[in-house]
Amino acid sequence: MKQRQKEGALRAESKIRHRPRRSFLKFIWTSLGLVALAEVIFLYFSFLLPPGKNQKKQGTAMFPAGAVGNYRPGSVTAFTRGFFYLACQEDGGFLAYSSRCTHLGCTLPWNENEKLFICPCHASSFDIRGLVVSAPAPRPLDRYRVKIENGMIYVDTSRKIKRKEFHPGDVVYADQVKTGDGEQS
Ligand code: FES
Repeated sequence: MKQRQKEGALRAESKIRHRPRRSFLKFIWTSLGLVALAEVIFLYFSFLLPPGKNQKKQGTAMFPAGAVGNYRPGSVTAFTRGFFYLACQEDGGFLAYSSRCTHLGCTLPWNENEKLFICPCHASSFDIRGLVVSAPAPRPLDRYRVKIENGMIYVDTSRKIKRKEFHPGDVVYADQVKTGDGEQS
């Protein structure tokens, strides 16, 4: 009986002795969890939001898209961080589009075999100039202003330009000064 009482007392004493250590570990884990959460939030705002959302107030958000020479005519390149596509037309000119469908805003994948953007939601499709090939999309893909400077391409993602049709003047070439910044056509 005495032996059992002694054991009980020892167990109780051990619990009391370990309590501060457990609280300390709990505090450490909670702190680490909060730091990890803060990092996730920071990364979301730094990288996942379109640059335009952060930089709109400054007027422009020139997204560097690399050298002209990196693109072959007839190619479409996705910029997932900028939420846009850069299309190098058959004649070597450049157009940049929003990756959102103009019907209800689904994200559009480029289909290399069909040479079309085909919407996974309601099957609208768009050609390499961003023009509607099949409805229900009501208008061409919204475009972004493209600027080429010293052989480097920049896309202004701060402002989407809505359009009703294709304007050859919207296409930007490496050897021109023009920046394709026309408004709604
Ligand atoms: S959202 Fe693209 S066709 Fe409806």
